[in-house]
Amino acid sequence: MKIIESIHEMQSTAVSHRVKGKLIGFVPTMGCLHTGHLSLVAKAREQADIVVVSIFVNPTQFGPNEDFNKYPRPLERDADLCREAGVDILFTPKPDAIYPSDFSTYIIEEKATPGLCGISRPNHFRGVTTVVAKLFNICRPDIAVFGQKDAQQCAVIRKMVRDMNFPIDIVVAPTVREPDGLAMSSRNVYLQDFQRRDAIQIYQALQKGRTMVEAGQRNIDRVLAEVTHHLTNYRRLSVIYVVAVDKDTMEPVREVIQGKTLLAIACWCDEVRLIDNIIL
Ligand code: PAJ
Repeated sequence: MKIIESIHEMQSTAVSHRVKGKLIGFVPTMGCLHTGHLSLVAKAREQADIVVVSIFVNPTQFGPNEDFNKYPRPLERDADLCREAGVDILFTPKPDAIYPSDFSTYIIEEKATPGLCGISRPNHFRGVTTVVAKLFNICRPDIAVFGQKDAQQCAVIRKMVRDMNFPIDIVVAPTVREPDGLAMSSRNVYLQDFQRRDAIQIYQALQKGRTMVEAGQRNIDRVLAEVTHHLTNYRRLSVIYVVAVDKDTMEPVREVIQGKTLLAIACWCDEVRLIDNIIL
């Protein structure tokens, strides 16, 4: 596995693979890798000749009071995991290279970003779309893999790719969970055991919603009320949102359309912000 720090070297390496007709599969990450990330690598491996993973803790997608400084950065361990997973190139740019001091161009998607996480994290998706667009231009992938865990991010990236004509196939991989159902996340390392006991209720609440829909409940307000009520039973959890939206547009829906309606939760577990979702 080659580790590349320089943007120029990454770009020229990508171009040299492309001219040989190799398909490049790309998995952007912020590191602190877990099995969820590695499942994206495996998905990229299935479809591409060269797998590129980036690790970059992107400052522009963190709010002023968020965890940018304390975000875990176990780079050596991450590199070992990538090597074991058969990654060909690990791209680890420095913040100053991605955002030189005179940086002033941002990409803003305007329809899928304002709701859900966009309400409590106003500039978050502007940071995500900007850095992902830059990483696409640097790593020049044919395919890029994202996780369903961040469903709104997937919808926003798909929309950006369509609106901006990036010649890249976006592949979405299923959410990988811990045995107790908690969606894997780099932020789970912040959770103590006693907090985790409440955190697993997020997935329980989603499943409660699914059970209601499977039993024939089509009134979305009833489903949302029941899911919210479930979460309020756990004192470490405080709900940021519980919504049912169209999985592609992120617009709220009045009625469940199976396979198309996303049930999504964001909540605080004490001071740790957690999100999860299922497609009904
Ligand atoms: P990060 O949170 O590191 O996640 C990198 C990728 O891993 C994302 O596509 C995310 O959806 C996926 N992922 C995280 N947990 C997962 C799980 N449990 N199962 C499946 N996939 C999972 O998302 C970001 O970084 C950043 O916003 C980024 C796209 C890199 C831009 O900075």
